[in-house]
Amino acid sequence: MDLAHTWRGEFTNAEVNALHAEAFGTEVFSDDVWDWRRLVTTHSLGWVTARDAHGLVGFVNVLWDGLTHAWLQDVMVARRLRHQGVGRTVVDAAVTNVRAAGCEWLHVDFTPDLAPFYLSACGFEPAQAGVLRL
Ligand SMILES: CC(C)(COP(=O)(O)OP(=O)(O)OC[C@H]1O[C@@H](n2cnc3c(N)ncnc32)[C@H](O)[C@@H]1OP(=O)(O)O)[C@@H](O)C(=O)NCCC(=O)NCCS
Repeated sequence: MDLAHTWRGEFTNAEVNALHAEAFGTEVFSDDVWDWRRLVTTHSLGWVTARDAHGLVGFVNVLWDGLTHAWLQDVMVARRLRHQGVGRTVVDAAVTNVRAAGCEWLHVDFTPDLAPFYLSACGFEPAQAGVLRL
């Protein structure tokens, strides 16, 4: 498949909000509600965009502590291209760039059904984690 993966690649809020709505079954948020461009440039180590001839088909946001730990957030692939290895290549691109930034640990949390994706396809080791709904 002919995809371009770009670390800190250009995107519009409308593209990511549309992909997010498809991936997570939410409404399509407006720029005013979810300004991805402002948020990732302010808070993230980086992000990965994956594009085909028709537009944005994959995205992941990479948060970090500024030094050694980074976290994957909002890994998403367009439905029409799922199960063709796009998610794995988006995560791989994030791993390469997080390592290049000098981080030592990359974290992700996920529901049990996604273990085959993160553990088998992407190579993460199982770990315990906690989460608190605020
Ligand atoms: C999860 C997601 C990013 C995977 O993207 P993808 O491009 O389809 O993944 P890949 O093709 O690289 O998958 C590689 C392997 O991982 C596993 N896998 C992929 N998606 C899976 C899923 N939803 N459930 C369980 N295993 C999955 C499969 O073993 C797959 O191999 P197969 O296609 O031969 O069965 C995509 O389904 C998505 O965007 N989902 C909605 C958003 C979401 O839940 N994101 C994760 C939040 S933690």
